[in-house]
Amino acid sequence: MENKETVYSQLLPQVQSLLADEKDTLANAANVVALLHNAFHFWWTGFYRVVDNELLLGPFQGPLACTRIGWGKGVCGTAWASGQTVIVPDVEHFAGHIACSSESRSEIVVPCRVDGKVVAVLDIDSELLGTFDETDARWLEQIVALFDSSAPQCPPVEEELHCPDCGAVFEPHDVFCPVCGNKIDKTQL
Ligand code: SME
Repeated sequence: MENKETVYSQLLPQVQSLLADEKDTLANAANVVALLHNAFHFWWTGFYRVVDNELLLGPFQGPLACTRIGWGKGVCGTAWASGQTVIVPDVEHFAGHIACSSESRSEIVVPCRVDGKVVAVLDIDSELLGTFDETDARWLEQIVALFDSSAPQCPPVEEELHCPDCGAVFEPHDVFCPVCGNKIDKTQL
């Protein structure tokens, strides 16, 4: 397979154009799942939505999955509760991991915010160990951020971007500053 940076960099404009052309979130979520799942051939790719104070299964591709997950439960509930992306290189070493499928060996869960509130999580499972790293986190956070039309989107690439904390130059897709490591607040640019 191509380098994952290359695959994500090709997917991002496709997601941007999908979301620009259609305002229905459910339809868009279904198509984003399909794009990611087919580009990477993951084991399971899907959204869980926050509904009545629990996570409820949303659009997904892959085998049958658990329908409801509580706040703070499993990898998904942990990402929801912490508001942070959770990367699990080996699900057997994540206390409280919810095994919807015994085939899943590693996982990443990315919270999706609208107006600063977590409204869903994107959950991706792999049948291989250690599939996900900071590269996936960075790109997937950028993909789910596109659902939040209230959030400032990445400025055009030709502009030179400087970290508001240390002044270092960073790339438009960076979520964390490559020099000081702080999370970049794009509202401060
Ligand atoms: N493993 C997840 C549950 C969802 S399935 O992987 C699709 C968790 O621990 O939250």
